[in-house]
Amino acid sequence: MRYVVSPMTLADIPRVIDIEKLAYPSTWPASSYRKELQDNPLAHYIVVRDTLVAVEPVGDTPSDSGKRPFPLSLLPARVPTPLAPEIANIVGFAGLWLMVDEAHVTTIATHPNYRQRGLGELLLTSLIDIAYGIGARQVTLEVRVSNDVAQILYRKYGFHEEGIRRRYYSDNQEDALIMWTEDIMTDRYRERYFLLTQALKTRLAAEDNGTSATGGTSAKNGKNATSSTTQPPRRRRQEQESARNANPGD
Ligand SMILES: CC(C)(COP(=O)(O)OP(=O)(O)OC[C@H]1O[C@@H](n2cnc3c(N)ncnc32)[C@H](O)[C@@H]1OP(=O)(O)O)[C@@H](O)C(=O)NCCC(=O)NCCS
Repeated sequence: MRYVVSPMTLADIPRVIDIEKLAYPSTWPASSYRKELQDNPLAHYIVVRDTLVAVEPVGDTPSDSGKRPFPLSLLPARVPTPLAPEIANIVGFAGLWLMVDEAHVTTIATHPNYRQRGLGELLLTSLIDIAYGIGARQVTLEVRVSNDVAQILYRKYGFHEEGIRRRYYSDNQEDALIMWTEDIMTDRYRERYFLLTQALKTRLAAEDNGTSATGGTSAKNGKNATSSTTQPPRRRRQEQESARNANPGD
């Protein structure tokens, strides 16, 4: 498989924050992610990597050989540090908290260059798999009322609207939709989930073979893509801060 999902580690945080910056108007500080990974037993965070991304080794590259080295003293004081290979190819991430038998999706984002390839779906299904694994019966999240793209993804997986949190997002006072799945343990949901994940596997396998040029049904249906700059943000950061000590929300 070209795209591989694995638990987020401390080493992944810089790249996760890079992607967060592209996906949301504000980001968690690295310390918040560290806290989540180290101190929160309810939290489950994952990343998806593109295993085909070739990462240039840090240091000399073949094209540099034989050239006079650039005097380091002439470089600006803040030289960007190349990302280590194991984190450089992260292209998305997601997380959830388990609260009793409810799984709360706290975040999900893919790199703008990797959208509409099924990776948001891969992350969401990986979270739902975790929810099954830890005995959750329902999955819930908050999403901006204007975030049509994310809502389409969630509705595809059986999330439906169950309420509104008024002025939930502090940056623009936007309301949040509260969405829930039905009981994911029912045969009905399992069957639907099975069919969707099979279709996703086929789609991703086609990408592996380089046979997927159009992406998923979004492209086929001619749905409007939302550019990275117009991607709506998620939950209020202040609430994220307090959420780490109380309930998760998105
Ligand atoms: C929401 C997000 C994670 C989707 O990621 P993605 O990798 O593009 O999603 P996928 O390619 O897996 O698409 C899965 C489904 O989502 C929906 N979808 C994704 N992009 C869409 C688009 N541009 N238009 C309409 N539907 C879209 C479709 O249902 C699609 O299934 P389909 O391809 O079979 O039609 C991504 O847009 C993102 O990171 N957004 C910014 C962060 C954010 O808003 N997160 C949600 C917070 S609640």
